[in-house]
Amino acid sequence: MNASDITILKESALADIAAAADAAAVEAARVRYLGRNGRLPEIMKEIGKADPAERKDLGQQANAFKNEVQAAIEARKESLQSDAGRAALRDLDLTLPGRWRGLGSRHPITQIIERATEIFRAIGFTVADGPDVEDVFHNFDALNHPEGHPARNEKDTFYLSDGRLLRTHTSPVQVRYMEKHTPPVRIIAPGRCYRRDTTDATHSANFHQVEGLYVDRGVSLADLKGDLAHFARELMGREVKTRLRPHFFPFTEPSVEFDFSCHVCGGKGCRVCKHSGWIEIGGAGMVNPKVFTAVGYDPEQVTGYAFGVGVERMAMILYGIPDIRFLYDNDVRFLEQF
Ligand code: PHE
Repeated sequence: MNASDITILKESALADIAAAADAAAVEAARVRYLGRNGRLPEIMKEIGKADPAERKDLGQQANAFKNEVQAAIEARKESLQSDAGRAALRDLDLTLPGRWRGLGSRHPITQIIERATEIFRAIGFTVADGPDVEDVFHNFDALNHPEGHPARNEKDTFYLSDGRLLRTHTSPVQVRYMEKHTPPVRIIAPGRCYRRDTTDATHSANFHQVEGLYVDRGVSLADLKGDLAHFARELMGREVKTRLRPHFFPFTEPSVEFDFSCHVCGGKGCRVCKHSGWIEIGGAGMVNPKVFTAVGYDPEQVTGYAFGVGVERMAMILYGIPDIRFLYDNDVRFLEQF
């Protein structure tokens, strides 16, 4: 073991590294020379046995060997990497058109809510909202639901352990808004609602409504009918007609359900309207004086109308969606059609 042995070994190591064609070959050279069972530990062992007068010098040589070989390995790795980068760039055709990732679109429920709010905004309504977690007063009491009314039942309504509930409709927003504002009031209130319904093709425990409320001196059922007719024409098309049918809600008097003439068959009768020519859209009516009293309005001074429409229902009718569950699955193959 002498200095020239180390020099010869270094040269062969550097030659091996320079010849390594890929990262695996570089690693093999590292193991061969510097690894635990490689040449360097062998040299160290032999130096230990050498003449003490030469030992220091040989130790320094061995150290230099290790550093140089290590540096050569790092350098080779880097150069292999940048070669690979250059090769990839050489093979890259910059004139190829890019891959189209597709633009996202708004969810049909969002689209309906936006169209409905736009239509009413254009005739002077502003958007209001309220909490999804409501108290019994705003969801039921102030809306004239008597004690024992079936809608209050735990079978129909989700109650929280503190006695509050998940709102069953957007009508509590009417109450909250009137508590804070004096008439005239013109609001539209879209939002989520919750009912203990078993999910099927037309029911979901979580759905959306758009609520409308107009309160002023002298508001009449004719205003309601005119504004709903305007809404129908803007949303569904110029030729769509509206009809009101007598109904009952605790918070409106008189109350109606309203239908739009079928936009598919024009009212002649088809599968979409179940051959009746009409499609049920929502509930409405003149605000019950008891609701005005609950929010501190004087029913002798003001009158108003209110309405509520189911957003999922409108989306299904407008777009011909056969099952409400499509609206919640978020399958892109469905969503990208809108
Ligand atoms: N809140 C009623 C419902 O959920 C709809 C409605 C709103 C009816 C406003 C009349 C007035 O069925």
